[in-house]
Amino acid sequence: MKTKLISPSLLSADFGNLERDIEMLNQSQADWLHVDVMDGRFVPNISFGFPVMKTVKQYSKKFIDVHLMIVEPEKYVEEFIDRGADLVSVHYEACIHLHRVINLIQEKGAKAGVVLNPATPVLMLEDIIADVDLVLLMSVNPGFGGQKFIENTYKKIAETKDLILSNNSTALIQIDGGVNLDNASKLFDAGADVLVAGNAVFSADDPAKMIELLKI
Ligand code: DX5
Ligand code: ZN
Repeated sequence: MKTKLISPSLLSADFGNLERDIEMLNQSQADWLHVDVMDGRFVPNISFGFPVMKTVKQYSKKFIDVHLMIVEPEKYVEEFIDRGADLVSVHYEACIHLHRVINLIQEKGAKAGVVLNPATPVLMLEDIIADVDLVLLMSVNPGFGGQKFIENTYKKIAETKDLILSNNSTALIQIDGGVNLDNASKLFDAGADVLVAGNAVFSADDPAKMIELLKI
């Protein structure tokens, strides 16, 4: 996988015009499509589930990046992969048997990511870093789009990079929450490989242009 990737979050799309928004992303320089699944238990919000995944798979030409903000993700990862997920990321905080869930995702033929909430230290990944394809660092508390970026994320990127290097891991670093034109290039410079952007993209007058600008 190449680096400096943008993964627009569907959470901020217009659900009355989902096909139109996905088509706009198809025509844009977006690399991935970020799908935020929330259950109202792991996070204090409910977003969408399998029916929306069906529409995403039907129309999207991009790599489908599914972020599960749900309890007991092991119950659903296989179905998300059957429905077209190329990457499934699960929260460290939601998995009692994280190693088992990561294996399950990879055995099903998808890439596997692990997500850390803002207050979870990077060192918790020491014994899983060699096995994951991606580390997603939350730069807001998960549950809602349009929140303010947490500056401590830069420190966590540096720590994750060190952990990756010292373990010969090939994991990518993804950042999710509050990404915009003010911080995107700083985040790439700090070592991020993939930036998720919801509000910044979909509230822009020209979302495709915004995706282009976020890469510079
Ligand atoms: C937050 C989600 C994010 C969200 C990002 O819980 O995981 O992916 O959509 O949205 P922005 O870019 O608006 O902060
Ligand atoms: Zn997300």
